[in-house]
Amino acid sequence: MSHLTTSSVAELAVFGGTPAFAEPVHVGRPNLGDREQLLARVNDILDRRWLTNNGHYVQAFERTVAARVGAKHCIAVCNGEIGLEIAIRALGLRGEVIVPSFTFIATAHALQWQEITPVFADIDPETHLIDPESVRRLITPRTSGIIGVHLWGQYCDVDALDAIAREHRLTLLFDAAHAFGCGARARRHGNSPVEVFSFHATKLVNTLEGGAIVTDDDALAQKIRLMKNFGFLGYDNVGYVGTNGKMNEFSAAMGLTSIESMDAFIAHNRRNHDQYRRELADIPGVELHRYDPAAANNYQYVVTEVDTERTGISRDMLLDVLWAENILARRYFYPGCHRMQPYRAYFPNAGLMLPVTERVAARVLVLPTGQAMTPDEVSRVCGVIRCAVAHGPEVARRLIDSGARRHLDPFHE
Ligand SMILES: Cc1ncc(COP(=O)(O)O)c(C=O)c1O
Repeated sequence: MSHLTTSSVAELAVFGGTPAFAEPVHVGRPNLGDREQLLARVNDILDRRWLTNNGHYVQAFERTVAARVGAKHCIAVCNGEIGLEIAIRALGLRGEVIVPSFTFIATAHALQWQEITPVFADIDPETHLIDPESVRRLITPRTSGIIGVHLWGQYCDVDALDAIAREHRLTLLFDAAHAFGCGARARRHGNSPVEVFSFHATKLVNTLEGGAIVTDDDALAQKIRLMKNFGFLGYDNVGYVGTNGKMNEFSAAMGLTSIESMDAFIAHNRRNHDQYRRELADIPGVELHRYDPAAANNYQYVVTEVDTERTGISRDMLLDVLWAENILARRYFYPGCHRMQPYRAYFPNAGLMLPVTERVAARVLVLPTGQAMTPDEVSRVCGVIRCAVAHGPEVARRLIDSGARRHLDPFHE
């Protein structure tokens, strides 16, 4: 069947029709750079017999990342979460640190893992970024810092957060996991010396697993370098408590190859995003998140919000419809960190303080994009959504009657 012209609810896969995709289509399918170049680098690594411990490719990757973001220092690490943990420790955070609840759980865990309490701030309803006024209300004598998250590759309100941090003598750092390739750095303020990127396979640029900490502060960079290598000052000489946060050579080779194609990845994402915008425009109640045209973005996230009053079908029922079609859309960052354990137990009433987070977490639906998505595939995804919404109340009723529901929402329904 053609999902572009779907007019019959019975043709939807959730009710027994043929799925729109024979194989599952994931959000965050990896972007791949030049395969030959990657394989040549892998061969070179094997020839050098230097697989990890600050090898040739890790050093080259660090130089490339630093140049791309305009930072004095880049320290490559094995993943973004470890990067956050090391940065948090190197900056001496303790007590309570304010973070948005609407973020990947790693932002909160990087604190809690070190017995620092994440205190959850609300977000702006338009941008989904941490709301500085909410941050201000959460400051206590135990607060030592703020972590701003550059969600969906959008820079959070660096100036407002910086002003609050200065006023209250707090340390400010940024979880920039989504923001590689998004232009200006947030670190221009002396008070916010660190940004942490993720190069997980799902990110615009990937090192399979990986991350990087960037800073202009020489002493901090040196400290972070030691911390990610067990605290070794030299052979047989440990000066700090450290961890193993090192990136390996294969990851760095993947990262270098990936960065070489980064502009092409962004251009491809941009085309997909434009197409989603055009094709979703006539579907009532499914709003595509708009990026500020004046700010650089990597368009790695196609974020929609579903307004059930207008679609007649809930976000989670729409998700059931899409999954049956093998379109594995995602409800990022549902239900919000504050509703996940252990935070739910620590802050049972946090939801009352986070009305925007609650609302956005109940509405967001992220659609697949990236280099692997063709225009035809984007059209097929939009076709399924168009069909489900055109018959919203009927689809909803049949889903409830059939008991075929997979994505339930115990928090908001
Ligand atoms: C906002 C955010 N912070 C932190 C991380 C953690 O990065 P990693 O998966 O590289 O550990 C992610 C990863 O997906 C993320 O989306």
